Amino acid sequence: MKTKKTLIIGLASFVTIVSCILLILNIFERKVESKYQIVHLKPIGPLEDDPAVWGVNFPYQYEDYLKSVDQVRTRYGGSEAIQRVPDGDDPRSVVAQDKLKLDKRFITMWSGYAFSKDFREERGHAYMLEDQIHTKRQKVGQPGTCINCHASTYSAMMKLGDGDLNKGFHALNKLPYFEAAKNVKHPVSCIDCHNPKDMSLRVTRPAFMEGIKTFKKLQGIHDYDVNKMASRQEMRTYTCAQCHVEYYFKGEGKTLTYPWSKGLKADDMLEYYNEMGFKDWTHKLTKAEVLKAQHPEFETYSQGIHAKSGVSCVDCHMPYKKVGAIKITDHHVNSPMLKTNRSCRTCHNISEDKLLERVNNIQDKNHEMKDIVFDALVSYIKKVENNSNHPKIKKMQKIQRDAQFLFDFVEAENSNGFHAPQESARVLLKSLNLIRKGEELLQK
Ligand code: HEC
Ligand code: HEC
Ligand code: HEC
Ligand code: HEC
Ligand code: HEC
Repeated sequence: MKTKKTLIIGLASFVTIVSCILLILNIFERKVESKYQIVHLKPIGPLEDDPAVWGVNFPYQYEDYLKSVDQVRTRYGGSEAIQRVPDGDDPRSVVAQDKLKLDKRFITMWSGYAFSKDFREERGHAYMLEDQIHTKRQKVGQPGTCINCHASTYSAMMKLGDGDLNKGFHALNKLPYFEAAKNVKHPVSCIDCHNPKDMSLRVTRPAFMEGIKTFKKLQGIHDYDVNKMASRQEMRTYTCAQCHVEYYFKGEGKTLTYPWSKGLKADDMLEYYNEMGFKDWTHKLTKAEVLKAQHPEFETYSQGIHAKSGVSCVDCHMPYKKVGAIKITDHHVNSPMLKTNRSCRTCHNISEDKLLERVNNIQDKNHEMKDIVFDALVSYIKKVENNSNHPKIKKMQKIQRDAQFLFDFVEAENSNGFHAPQESARVLLKSLNLIRKGEELLQK
């Protein structure tokens, strides 16, 4: 009797447990379904670079993607829509702020370089191609390499290389800019981040594949193949790191190269350039052989607490959002300060006001530090200019080169210190220390 009762209770418990498991599995499955509705209404060709065609299948993502035309200013980021009268050279009627007008010190730092002619606040992805075509920096004759990060290039490269992405990459780099531009039609598009077959994330930029391979080698990982070996969370950063990085054009082929074989810190890259004797241009006022740092968002972020905690670019810049019952990734890529509720509060359980206050606290201090170093740098450049016959001039020029690169590295990074506050402060301090040593030489 007793054994029969135990058996019935046992059986009942078993049934309950199994139904619970089945229910949980069902809920989980529904959750996954509601997150990924990968139903292709219309097949997408393997070289389809028109986002509107993808948009037929994924209207929510497409709708948000189109919103990157918005120009909204934040305390230090975002951008402002500045009206201009179109002319024969430049048909744009709206541009972003002219940073050279806002701060004349840039003109001294970049004397003799195209950047001293035109440098604006960056704005949304929708503008990347037209802003590059019409910048006055084109006046000096740029190579096709520029296109890599300013357009949907995957299918252009595949076509130029007869199905070989790498071959197409080299062919595109070598063309003069306006020849290269004939091969592209759209700003960064769905195909640059997604595989049309299953919508999985992928890296499509050979320069990043090569750059991350050299960086991983430094960490003892050989033959790193990003598309095979990166985790999903890493891909949520690497798709952005295809473009938001420091770069240079290598050799006659003008090959787009990311200088990461010594590491991702500003000083590692400076050492890389110094070892190979690379220069971007000769400074007009001082004749120093100098470098231009470019938007090192990925490298700077990599030194910060969020990267160390496994938070990706996408977590903050493309947070999840709800559309009806489904959860999607927000394809309106912009400043997280315009959506802190979704960008930050998923992890930080504090009010929006408090979050903004924390960001302001970091950015205000970063600005104050940059201002101090910029003044010191510009004053040093003028002294080097006025002491061209000084016996230590070579050393003084080298100091300008190094200090200027380190300062510019923090200046060109677009988070105004947020991505890695301590690291940005360290690099600025290093720059200031070099300037101090240069001033000492002058007094000798
Ligand atoms: C923890 C959140 C977080 C992560 C992770 C993060 N960012 Fe940011 N990012 C910010 C904040 C906050 C700002 C400052 C925005 C502002 O000032 O309006 C910013 C600014 C930027 C800007 C300038 C935006 C503007 O509107 O001026 C760019 C570009 C950018 N980040 C790219 C990246 C890339 C690329 C990565 C990954 C390599 C990344 N971010 C990782 C939070 C983040
Ligand atoms: C490795 C990728 C990459 C390459 C190569 C590249 N850019 Fe950019 N460019 C970016 C990113 C990312 C931004 C936005 C962040 C910023 O402006 O700091 C940008 C912004 C710009 C802007 C708008 C802001 C400004 O500086 O006025 C212009 C214009 C521009 N690039 C022109 C060029 C030209 C010309 C070349 C070739 C000499 C070039 N880019 C090559 C990634 C790249
Ligand atoms: C193909 C290269 C490329 C890729 C990939 C790319 N970006 Fe950009 N991004 C740019 C360029 C170029 C600009 C500046 C466009 C301009 O000023 O005309 C820019 C601008 C931005 C801005 C400024 C927007 C604003 O409103 O001011 C943010 C933020 C940003 N990118 C974040 C990201 C994030 C996050 C990712 C990854 C999900 C990413 N980008 C992927 C090239 C790229
Ligand atoms: C700069 C890179 C980038 C571009 C360009 C881009 N996406 Fe995405 N997309 C992402 C990322 C990152 C995710 C999140 C994937 C993950 O977490 O695994 C995503 C997710 C998706 C998903 C899965 C569902 C979801 O919302 O999470 C769909 C569908 C999608 N994107 C469609 C599109 C379409 C359509 C376009 C073009 C209009 C596009 N994407 C352009 C980066 C991009
Ligand atoms: C996916 C989770 C996640 C998201 C999204 C996120 N954070 Fe964080 N944040 C963290 C973690 C984890 C830490 C480290 C905290 C620790 O370990 O004590 C951190 C630390 C910080 C810190 C302290 C930084 C320092 O140097 O000590 C600030 C400030 C911060 N976050 C602000 C933000 C803001 C603003 C956003 C939105 C733009 C944001 N976070 C988005 C997880 C996140």
